[in-house]
Amino acid sequence: MRPTPPPRTYRVKSFGCQMNVYDGERMAELLADQGIAPAPEGEEADLVVLNTCHIREKAAEKVYSDIGRLRREDGTAPLIAVAGCVAQAEGEEIMTRAPSVSMVVGPQAYHRLPQMIADAIEGRRAVDTDMPARTKFDVLPARRKVGPSAFLTVQEGCDKFCTYCVVPYTRGAEISRPFNDLVIEAEKLVDAGAREITLLGQNVNAWRDEAGRGLEKLVEALAAIPALARIRYTTSHPNDMTEGLIAAHRDVEKLMPFLHLPVQAGSDRVLKAMNRSHTAESYMRVLDRVRAVRPDIALSGDFIVGFPGETEAEFAETIKLVETVGYAQCFSFKYSPRPGTPAATMDGQVPAAVMDERLQRLQAALNASQLAFNRASVGKRCTVLVERRGKLDGQWLGKSPWLQSVHFIGEAAIGDLIEVELVEAGPNSLSARLLQPAHA
Ligand code: 5AD
Ligand code: SF4
Repeated sequence: MRPTPPPRTYRVKSFGCQMNVYDGERMAELLADQGIAPAPEGEEADLVVLNTCHIREKAAEKVYSDIGRLRREDGTAPLIAVAGCVAQAEGEEIMTRAPSVSMVVGPQAYHRLPQMIADAIEGRRAVDTDMPARTKFDVLPARRKVGPSAFLTVQEGCDKFCTYCVVPYTRGAEISRPFNDLVIEAEKLVDAGAREITLLGQNVNAWRDEAGRGLEKLVEALAAIPALARIRYTTSHPNDMTEGLIAAHRDVEKLMPFLHLPVQAGSDRVLKAMNRSHTAESYMRVLDRVRAVRPDIALSGDFIVGFPGETEAEFAETIKLVETVGYAQCFSFKYSPRPGTPAATMDGQVPAAVMDERLQRLQAALNASQLAFNRASVGKRCTVLVERRGKLDGQWLGKSPWLQSVHFIGEAAIGDLIEVELVEAGPNSLSARLLQPAHA
């Protein structure tokens, strides 16, 4: 590569999960710390970071086409860094296939970006997919200004090795960030304007501090920050729903009544083949325990249709489970073979047309469930955390405690917690009326 002038502007494009969003924000701050400015909307950036996701689909192929699209008419390209899980999975391969990429940086090595940029300016390309435990969080700069709802990564990686999933390979083993670091970062987020913090982790409820205390201890500590109004956490594994964490849903008022607890499938044979280490029945028992302490809890989940060998009768068990649980919202996916995972080479790969049809039926069941949940909320009084303006004059959008999108018209400002009554429900949002007096 030839030397290039130092970049003056950057753009970070994040794909995939909320942890990538968090990482993308942190990388943006790191670049800003180097005196590089965000590229204005619609203008080309001197440095582009593609923060990629590898969980489903032909993710790697998509990255190569994204890289191709960055090429300018004269054949030159901005400085390109490929980050995230595709970077981790593909490493050197990206350098070989995409000569315009100067940096490949895995999810645990972002803090080395400034050095990699310095190298790239001199014409040296670099790949860094090391997984040094913890260092990136120690080195990344603290945040400056944030919106009312902020993410805080508390845990990364996964030791569960579900047979379809690439995360244990791309994000590495489970690590928990230290308790004190997290409390300090949460305080900074609140000082910077956050009223709600969502604790993030691939297995967030597997978080443990140095003394082995579970996530509820962190939740309790953050609840003591006066200006923090709401706490959430995602994504959880059914096997890590401890009594302590469940009790926090009863005892900690600031912990919102929402639980994202993926089940993936309703058939025990499929769950076993997935290496989920829970059954449909044991999953339902976890939900019962949570509902016993927090009857209004909104439940959410992830589903995969068309796992290798899934029969029509086994798929029907997934639909039955959805109808029994009554979810407030869910994510559902067609099984996507990930190279290097055990399921990718299992017998009985399900034809695409069968997966399409099952996904449609599952989504119809999930939509019905979501609409029923929203309709059952009509008449409830609750707070809405105002996140942004709506399209209509005087309209505001925010979230209910149950993570529903709520819109209303009236006096408000971003970051307000407003008392409302939910008056009308659609499949994806509810309208509300202000209860006076509104308070901030
Ligand atoms: N194919 C389809 N969906 C997947 N997920 C993870 N790996 C795959 C895969 N190979 C889904 C799971 C997980 C969510 C984050 O993505 O449902 O909970
Ligand atoms: Fe992937 Fe399973 Fe770990 Fe979730 S628990 S990140 S699905 S391996």
